[in-house]
Amino acid sequence: MSYRPQVCIVGGGMITQVQILPSLYQLQRLGVVGDIHICALNSAPLKVLAADPMLAKAFPGQSFVAHPALTTDPKVMQPDAFKEVIASLPPHQIVVVAVPDQMHNGVIQKALQHDQHICCVKPLVLKHNEAEVVAREARRRGLVVGIEYHKRFDDRYLIARRQYRAGRFGEFRIGQASLLECWYYRHSNFQNWCTCENSDMFSYIACHYIDLVAFITGLRPTAVSVYGIKDRYPNGREGYLWTDGRVIWENGACLNVQNALGYPDEGPGGNFQGIRLYGSKGDQGTMIVHNDQYRGVEHAYTEKGTDPGDTRYAQPNPDYFQYVDVGGAGLKPVGYGFRSIEYIVRRIGDCMEEVGSRGAKEALSIRQRFLDRVDEEGIMATPRNSAYNELVMEAGRMSILNEGREVSIQYGRKAGIKFRTYRR
Ligand SMILES: NC(=O)c1ccc[n+]([C@@H]2O[C@H](COP(=O)([O-])OP(=O)(O)OC[C@H]3O[C@@H](n4cnc5c(N)ncnc54)[C@H](O)[C@@H]3O)[C@@H](O)[C@H]2O)c1
Repeated sequence: MSYRPQVCIVGGGMITQVQILPSLYQLQRLGVVGDIHICALNSAPLKVLAADPMLAKAFPGQSFVAHPALTTDPKVMQPDAFKEVIASLPPHQIVVVAVPDQMHNGVIQKALQHDQHICCVKPLVLKHNEAEVVAREARRRGLVVGIEYHKRFDDRYLIARRQYRAGRFGEFRIGQASLLECWYYRHSNFQNWCTCENSDMFSYIACHYIDLVAFITGLRPTAVSVYGIKDRYPNGREGYLWTDGRVIWENGACLNVQNALGYPDEGPGGNFQGIRLYGSKGDQGTMIVHNDQYRGVEHAYTEKGTDPGDTRYAQPNPDYFQYVDVGGAGLKPVGYGFRSIEYIVRRIGDCMEEVGSRGAKEALSIRQRFLDRVDEEGIMATPRNSAYNELVMEAGRMSILNEGREVSIQYGRKAGIKFRTYRR
């Protein structure tokens, strides 16, 4: 059997444009996936994708099926169209979830109901109990659900993970992580949804580095406190646009995480990001320091580009997502943004190849055993093996809304969060 799934991307926004669609076009070029459908709320973002000059240059002759069609009046909203598209696919194709965070769960439920494998941008869902439902239903139906934490596929994290697990860094004790996105984000759609009552910078971006600490060390977070500073967006609404979080881990280690929509637009990188982890073994100190913003590349252009945040002097990230000319038609996408999508799609392919042409009952148990292996390996984030992410997000939210009170996380059958109580 040769598995070449159709892919349905739900959401045609920024992340689809800069990472998901070009990655899938490349996989289509390689014969790994078949037709690509994209659903959006209306035709406007789909027109942007169809006319994107970079995508046209990199993937000449390739296109996607738009829902609603490109000719539809952009004023017509079709919030339920994705449901019909998913229902129209044969089972065991791939649904990519790339809608705003609070809508992930609805799309995931629909995809599971129609027996589709899933690749979901982070965060999977907003609540731990929702993640548990997704995990149970996916296992019952034998469906792969991969959560796209692409920093995991930055080789420096895979290297740190392997060496940490080989004991070379001893035990993580204390660390600091930062991810500050550019100031100009405040002018985007963020101001309409990332407001105090819905979210905050800790919920939106702290998960990346917290996930990486768990990914490297295998430790789980057990308590969270987050101090948030409110600021006004250009439209006058208020958001927690600066956050400082403290995450305590099951071995007593501590990670400080700072996040903001506050990196100066005139700064040379697309953001500020990185991590420092200090550990110990016997009487030796150890460290892992990743400068994820400045990766040793400096450019000075004749003039600055036309995108917000473009500068004449720049420190571009060569590792996340870039196009390179390696001869032949178009351009090739490279970087961990591509590798992460490729990994999830190929693991789904591996699962389906193992099933081959076996009957339904046997096929289901093969797929379920495959899911157990993927959960256990821990390379791809799944609803089961990365459930700490939802717990941290819930705990962070409870803390920030209560002036930074510490919230503890419990695992096991009674997994959940509560305000931490202290022994007197
Ligand atoms: N580093 C990362 O992992 C990373 C980076 C950026 C975004 N994201 C995640 O990706 C998701 C999307 O972010 P974005 O920046 O692309 O958002 P965006 O606002 O640019 O795009 C959202 C898209 O969802 C579509 N949409 C909304 N309602 C819909 C509906 N009912 N049916 C079909 N489509 C619908 C909109 O038309 C739009 O195309 C978010 O969950 C975000 O957290 C992850």
